[in-house]
Amino acid sequence: MTATPLTKPSWAALTPVGEEVFRGLTAQPKTLSPWLFYDAAGSRLFEAICEQPEYYVTRTESAILARHAEEMVRLAGAGRRLSILELGAGTAAKTGQLLRSAVQRQGRTVYRPIDVSGSALEAAKSRLEAELPSLTVDPVVTDYTSGLEEITSDCVPEERRMVLYIGSSIGNFDPEDAHGVLRSVRASLSPGDTLLLGVDMVKDPALLLAAYNDAAGVTAAFNRNVLRRINRELEANFDLERFRHRAIWNSARARVEMHLESTIAQRISIPALELEVCFARGETIHTENSYKFTGRRAKETLERADFEVERSWTDPQSWFGVYLARVK
Ligand code: AVI
Repeated sequence: MTATPLTKPSWAALTPVGEEVFRGLTAQPKTLSPWLFYDAAGSRLFEAICEQPEYYVTRTESAILARHAEEMVRLAGAGRRLSILELGAGTAAKTGQLLRSAVQRQGRTVYRPIDVSGSALEAAKSRLEAELPSLTVDPVVTDYTSGLEEITSDCVPEERRMVLYIGSSIGNFDPEDAHGVLRSVRASLSPGDTLLLGVDMVKDPALLLAAYNDAAGVTAAFNRNVLRRINRELEANFDLERFRHRAIWNSARARVEMHLESTIAQRISIPALELEVCFARGETIHTENSYKFTGRRAKETLERADFEVERSWTDPQSWFGVYLARVK
Protein backbone atom coordinates (compact mmCIF):
# COMPACT_ATOMS: atom_id res chain seq x y z
CA MET A 1 0.00 0.00 0.00
CA THR A 2 1.06 3.52 -0.59
CA ALA A 3 2.59 6.28 1.48
CA THR A 4 1.42 9.82 0.85
CA PRO A 5 3.54 12.81 1.77
CA LEU A 6 1.02 15.57 2.58
CA THR A 7 3.52 18.05 1.28
CA LYS A 8 7.18 17.66 0.54
CA PRO A 9 9.05 17.64 3.87
CA SER A 10 11.80 20.11 4.44
CA TRP A 11 14.79 17.76 4.17
CA ALA A 12 17.15 20.20 5.77
CA ALA A 13 15.19 19.97 9.02
CA LEU A 14 15.19 16.18 9.15
CA THR A 15 17.18 14.21 11.66
CA PRO A 16 18.90 10.97 10.55
CA VAL A 17 15.95 9.11 12.15
CA GLY A 18 13.48 11.21 10.13
CA GLU A 19 15.37 10.64 6.91
CA GLU A 20 15.57 6.89 7.45
CA VAL A 21 11.89 6.57 8.40
CA PHE A 22 10.83 8.63 5.38
CA ARG A 23 13.00 6.55 3.05
CA GLY A 24 11.93 3.22 4.53
CA LEU A 25 8.18 3.81 4.84
CA THR A 26 7.83 5.32 1.37
CA ALA A 27 9.73 2.36 -0.15
CA GLN A 28 7.99 -0.70 -1.55
CA PRO A 29 8.16 -3.10 0.26
CA LYS A 30 8.42 -1.05 3.46
CA THR A 31 11.65 -1.34 5.42
CA LEU A 32 13.33 0.25 8.43
CA SER A 33 17.04 0.01 9.04
CA PRO A 34 18.04 -2.01 12.15
CA TRP A 35 20.16 0.80 13.63
CA LEU A 36 16.80 2.42 14.54
CA PHE A 37 16.30 -0.29 17.18
CA TYR A 38 18.98 1.08 19.44
CA ASP A 39 17.53 3.98 21.40
CA ALA A 40 17.96 3.69 25.20
CA ALA A 41 14.97 1.33 25.59
CA GLY A 42 15.99 -0.73 22.53
CA SER A 43 19.55 -1.11 23.83
CA ARG A 44 18.18 -2.40 27.16
CA LEU A 45 15.87 -4.80 25.32
CA PHE A 46 18.79 -6.07 23.26
CA GLU A 47 20.71 -6.78 26.46
CA ALA A 48 17.66 -8.69 27.72
CA ILE A 49 17.52 -10.68 24.44
CA CYS A 50 21.10 -11.79 25.06
CA GLU A 51 19.91 -13.36 28.36
CA GLN A 52 17.03 -15.31 26.83
CA PRO A 53 17.46 -19.09 26.86
CA GLU A 54 16.58 -19.33 23.15
CA TYR A 55 19.14 -16.69 22.11
CA TYR A 56 22.19 -18.97 22.06
CA VAL A 57 24.30 -16.40 20.14
CA THR A 58 25.81 -14.40 23.01
CA ARG A 59 26.58 -17.19 25.43
CA THR A 60 27.95 -19.48 22.70
CA GLU A 61 30.34 -16.83 21.40
CA SER A 62 31.34 -15.78 24.93
CA ALA A 63 32.24 -19.38 25.75
CA ILE A 64 34.41 -19.64 22.61
CA LEU A 65 36.18 -16.38 23.45
CA ALA A 66 36.74 -17.37 27.08
CA ARG A 67 38.07 -20.78 26.14
CA HIS A 68 40.49 -19.66 23.42
CA ALA A 69 41.39 -16.11 24.44
CA GLU A 70 45.01 -16.94 25.19
CA GLU A 71 45.59 -18.55 21.83
CA MET A 72 43.77 -15.75 20.01
CA VAL A 73 45.96 -13.12 21.65
CA ARG A 74 49.16 -15.11 21.10
CA LEU A 75 48.46 -15.68 17.40
CA ALA A 76 47.34 -12.10 16.80
CA GLY A 77 50.42 -10.63 18.50
CA ALA A 78 52.83 -12.97 16.66
CA GLY A 79 55.66 -12.02 19.01
CA ARG A 80 54.95 -8.29 19.06
CA ARG A 81 53.09 -6.00 21.43
CA LEU A 82 49.37 -6.09 20.64
CA SER A 83 46.83 -3.28 20.81
CA ILE A 84 43.16 -4.20 20.64
CA LEU A 85 40.37 -2.26 18.96
CA GLU A 86 36.72 -3.22 19.04
CA LEU A 87 33.97 -2.14 16.62
CA GLY A 88 30.56 -1.60 18.19
CA ALA A 89 32.02 -2.43 21.60
CA GLY A 90 29.09 -1.20 23.72
CA THR A 91 29.90 -2.03 27.33
CA ALA A 92 32.57 -4.51 26.17
CA ALA A 93 30.78 -7.30 28.02
CA LYS A 94 32.45 -10.12 26.06
CA THR A 95 35.93 -8.64 25.75
CA GLY A 96 37.14 -9.22 29.32
CA GLN A 97 38.86 -12.55 28.76
CA LEU A 98 40.77 -11.36 25.70
CA LEU A 99 41.97 -8.26 27.52
CA ARG A 100 42.97 -10.29 30.58
CA SER A 101 44.99 -12.61 28.34
CA ALA A 102 46.68 -9.68 26.61
CA VAL A 103 47.61 -8.05 29.94
CA GLN A 104 48.89 -11.35 31.32
CA ARG A 105 51.02 -11.86 28.26
CA GLN A 106 52.51 -8.41 27.73
CA GLY A 107 51.62 -6.20 30.67
CA ARG A 108 50.75 -2.69 29.51
CA THR A 109 47.98 -2.92 26.89
CA VAL A 110 45.89 -0.37 25.02
CA TYR A 111 42.25 -1.13 24.24
CA ARG A 112 40.25 1.17 21.96
CA PRO A 113 36.53 0.40 22.07
CA ILE A 114 34.56 2.16 19.32
CA ASP A 115 30.83 2.77 19.60
CA VAL A 116 28.14 5.40 19.01
CA SER A 117 27.20 5.28 22.70
CA GLY A 118 29.57 7.38 24.80
CA SER A 119 27.90 6.29 28.04
CA ALA A 120 28.39 2.58 27.28
CA LEU A 121 32.08 3.24 26.53
CA GLU A 122 32.58 5.21 29.75
CA ALA A 123 31.03 2.34 31.73
CA ALA A 124 33.41 -0.10 29.99
CA LYS A 125 36.40 2.12 30.76
CA SER A 126 35.66 2.42 34.50
CA ARG A 127 34.99 -1.28 34.89
CA LEU A 128 37.96 -2.57 32.90
CA GLU A 129 40.56 -0.13 34.21
CA ALA A 130 39.50 -0.91 37.79
CA GLU A 131 39.92 -4.62 37.13
CA LEU A 132 43.12 -4.45 35.05
CA PRO A 133 45.53 -1.71 36.19
CA SER A 134 47.91 -2.34 33.24
CA LEU A 135 45.13 -1.68 30.76
CA THR A 136 44.52 1.73 29.20
CA VAL A 137 41.04 2.08 27.74
CA ASP A 138 40.88 4.76 25.07
CA PRO A 139 37.24 5.04 23.94
CA VAL A 140 36.29 6.45 20.54
CA VAL A 141 32.71 7.66 20.13
CA THR A 142 31.84 7.30 16.46
CA ASP A 143 29.83 5.30 13.95
CA TYR A 144 32.42 2.83 12.64
CA THR A 145 30.43 2.24 9.45
CA SER A 146 31.32 5.74 8.28
CA GLY A 147 35.08 5.09 8.20
CA LEU A 148 37.94 3.98 10.39
CA GLU A 149 41.07 5.60 9.00
CA GLU A 150 41.33 8.36 11.58
CA ILE A 151 40.84 5.85 14.41
CA THR A 152 43.71 3.57 13.54
CA SER A 153 46.16 5.89 11.83
CA ASP A 154 47.99 6.94 15.02
CA CYS A 155 49.09 3.44 16.02
CA VAL A 156 52.72 2.62 16.78
CA PRO A 157 54.34 0.91 13.76
CA GLU A 158 56.09 -1.85 15.75
CA GLU A 159 52.82 -2.93 17.34
CA ARG A 160 50.31 -5.35 15.89
CA ARG A 161 46.66 -4.36 15.98
CA MET A 162 43.78 -6.75 16.43
CA VAL A 163 40.33 -5.44 15.51
CA LEU A 164 37.48 -7.28 17.23
CA TYR A 165 34.25 -7.44 15.32
CA ILE A 166 32.28 -9.90 17.37
CA GLY A 167 28.65 -10.55 18.33
CA SER A 168 27.61 -11.50 14.78
CA SER A 169 27.15 -7.79 14.03
CA ILE A 170 28.43 -8.34 10.49
CA GLY A 171 25.34 -10.53 9.98
CA ASN A 172 23.06 -7.49 10.15
CA PHE A 173 24.51 -6.14 6.88
CA ASP A 174 23.53 -7.31 3.42
CA PRO A 175 26.51 -9.02 1.73
CA GLU A 176 27.64 -5.98 -0.28
CA ASP A 177 27.44 -3.67 2.75
CA ALA A 178 29.25 -6.27 4.87
CA HIS A 179 31.95 -6.32 2.22
CA GLY A 180 32.16 -2.51 2.44
CA VAL A 181 32.62 -2.65 6.23
CA LEU A 182 35.33 -5.31 5.98
CA ARG A 183 37.11 -3.38 3.20
CA SER A 184 37.11 -0.29 5.36
CA VAL A 185 38.56 -2.28 8.29
CA ARG A 186 41.17 -3.72 5.93
CA ALA A 187 42.07 -0.27 4.60
CA SER A 188 42.73 0.98 8.13
CA LEU A 189 45.13 -1.88 8.97
CA SER A 190 48.69 -2.77 7.96
CA PRO A 191 50.18 -6.12 6.89
CA GLY A 192 50.40 -8.44 9.90
CA ASP A 193 47.43 -6.86 11.73
CA THR A 194 44.40 -9.05 12.34
CA LEU A 195 40.63 -9.04 12.46
CA LEU A 196 38.76 -11.31 14.89
CA LEU A 197 35.32 -11.84 13.38
CA GLY A 198 32.37 -13.56 15.11
CA VAL A 199 29.71 -15.06 12.83
CA ASP A 200 26.58 -17.03 13.57
CA MET A 201 26.37 -20.30 11.61
CA VAL A 202 23.52 -21.78 9.57
CA LYS A 203 21.72 -24.39 11.69
CA ASP A 204 18.36 -26.07 12.21
CA PRO A 205 15.75 -23.41 11.26
CA ALA A 206 13.71 -24.30 14.35
CA LEU A 207 16.61 -23.21 16.58
CA LEU A 208 17.14 -20.05 14.55
CA LEU A 209 13.50 -19.08 14.66
CA ALA A 210 13.23 -19.72 18.39
CA ALA A 211 16.22 -17.42 18.95
CA TYR A 212 14.38 -14.59 17.17
CA ASN A 213 10.99 -15.32 18.67
CA ASP A 214 11.66 -16.07 22.34
CA ALA A 215 8.83 -17.32 24.53
CA ALA A 216 9.06 -14.34 26.90
CA GLY A 217 8.37 -11.96 24.01
CA VAL A 218 11.52 -9.88 24.50
CA THR A 219 12.48 -9.94 20.80
CA ALA A 220 8.91 -9.01 19.89
CA ALA A 221 9.12 -6.02 22.25
CA PHE A 222 12.53 -5.09 20.77
CA ASN A 223 11.09 -5.19 17.25
CA ARG A 224 7.98 -3.18 18.14
CA ASN A 225 10.03 -0.65 20.10
CA VAL A 226 11.08 0.88 16.78
CA LEU A 227 7.46 2.03 16.32
CA ARG A 228 7.45 3.54 19.81
CA ARG A 229 10.63 5.42 18.89
CA ILE A 230 9.00 6.79 15.72
CA ASN A 231 5.95 7.83 17.76
CA ARG A 232 8.14 9.67 20.24
CA GLU A 233 10.65 11.25 17.89
CA LEU A 234 8.40 11.98 14.91
CA GLU A 235 4.99 12.37 16.63
CA ALA A 236 3.59 9.35 14.78
CA ASN A 237 0.51 7.41 15.92
CA PHE A 238 1.51 3.75 15.53
CA ASP A 239 -0.60 1.50 17.75
CA LEU A 240 1.89 -1.18 18.79
CA GLU A 241 -0.91 -3.67 19.43
CA ARG A 242 -1.74 -3.56 15.73
CA PHE A 243 1.65 -4.78 14.57
CA ARG A 244 2.71 -8.37 15.07
CA HIS A 245 6.33 -9.46 15.42
CA ARG A 246 7.35 -12.05 12.83
CA ALA A 247 10.62 -13.91 12.39
CA ILE A 248 11.13 -15.79 9.11
CA TRP A 249 13.95 -18.07 7.97
CA ASN A 250 14.84 -17.18 4.37
CA SER A 251 16.85 -20.25 3.36
CA ALA A 252 17.67 -18.97 -0.15
CA ARG A 253 19.50 -16.02 1.39
CA ALA A 254 20.60 -17.77 4.58
CA ARG A 255 19.12 -15.12 6.83
CA VAL A 256 16.58 -14.69 9.60
CA GLU A 257 14.30 -11.78 8.72
CA MET A 258 12.35 -9.77 11.25
CA HIS A 259 9.16 -8.05 10.18
CA LEU A 260 6.34 -6.09 11.78
CA GLU A 261 3.06 -7.21 10.28
CA SER A 262 0.05 -4.94 10.24
CA THR A 263 -2.88 -6.93 11.67
CA ILE A 264 -5.49 -4.64 10.05
CA ALA A 265 -5.74 -2.19 7.13
CA GLN A 266 -4.70 1.12 8.64
CA ARG A 267 -3.37 4.60 7.96
CA ILE A 268 -0.59 6.02 10.12
CA SER A 269 0.27 9.67 10.24
CA ILE A 270 3.77 10.94 10.91
CA PRO A 271 3.36 14.70 11.34
CA ALA A 272 7.07 15.51 11.70
CA LEU A 273 7.57 14.08 8.20
CA GLU A 274 4.27 15.45 6.85
CA LEU A 275 3.62 11.86 5.82
CA GLU A 276 0.70 9.46 5.89
CA VAL A 277 1.44 5.77 5.45
CA CYS A 278 -1.21 3.20 4.51
CA PHE A 279 -0.90 -0.47 5.42
CA ALA A 280 -2.92 -3.33 3.97
CA ARG A 281 -3.86 -6.08 6.40
CA GLY A 282 -0.90 -8.49 6.53
CA GLU A 283 1.55 -6.00 4.99
CA THR A 284 4.91 -5.89 6.75
CA ILE A 285 7.73 -3.54 7.55
CA HIS A 286 10.98 -5.45 7.12
CA THR A 287 13.09 -4.34 10.09
CA GLU A 288 16.15 -6.62 10.18
CA ASN A 289 18.17 -9.28 8.42
CA SER A 290 20.45 -11.50 10.40
CA TYR A 291 22.66 -13.46 8.00
CA LYS A 292 23.95 -16.86 9.00
CA PHE A 293 27.19 -18.28 7.61
CA THR A 294 28.70 -21.56 6.53
CA GLY A 295 32.41 -22.01 7.14
CA ARG A 296 32.97 -21.63 3.44
CA ARG A 297 31.05 -18.36 3.19
CA ALA A 298 32.83 -16.89 6.19
CA LYS A 299 36.19 -17.69 4.56
CA GLU A 300 35.11 -16.32 1.17
CA THR A 301 33.77 -13.15 2.77
CA LEU A 302 37.08 -12.53 4.55
CA GLU A 303 39.22 -13.40 1.54
CA ARG A 304 37.21 -11.15 -0.72
CA ALA A 305 38.04 -8.25 1.61
CA ASP A 306 41.72 -9.21 1.32
CA PHE A 307 42.18 -11.04 4.62
CA GLU A 308 43.70 -14.47 5.04
CA VAL A 309 42.00 -16.79 7.55
CA GLU A 310 44.65 -18.01 9.97
CA ARG A 311 42.52 -19.95 12.44
CA SER A 312 38.94 -20.41 13.44
CA TRP A 313 37.23 -21.70 16.55
CA THR A 314 33.76 -23.00 17.17
CA ASP A 315 31.65 -24.56 19.94
CA PRO A 316 30.92 -28.30 20.29
CA GLN A 317 27.72 -27.95 18.24
CA SER A 318 29.27 -25.69 15.57
CA TRP A 319 26.62 -23.04 16.17
CA PHE A 320 28.96 -20.07 16.14
CA GLY A 321 32.32 -19.33 14.50
CA VAL A 322 35.15 -17.00 15.48
CA TYR A 323 37.69 -16.30 12.72
CA LEU A 324 41.16 -14.81 13.09
CA ALA A 325 42.04 -13.26 9.74
CA ARG A 326 45.32 -11.52 8.92
CA VAL A 327 46.12 -8.72 6.53
CA LYS A 328 48.44 -10.19 3.91
C1 AVI B 1 23.03 -7.31 17.05
N1 AVI B 1 22.68 -8.47 16.22
C2 AVI B 1 23.85 -9.31 15.96
C3 AVI B 1 21.52 -9.23 16.69
C4 AVI B 1 21.24 -10.43 15.76
O1 AVI B 1 21.15 -11.55 16.27
O2 AVI B 1 21.13 -10.24 14.56
C5 AVI B 1 20.29 -8.35 16.79
C6 AVI B 1 19.06 -9.11 17.16
N2 AVI B 1 17.90 -9.01 16.55
C7 AVI B 1 17.03 -9.79 17.17
N3 AVI B 1 17.64 -10.44 18.11
C8 AVI B 1 18.90 -10.01 18.16
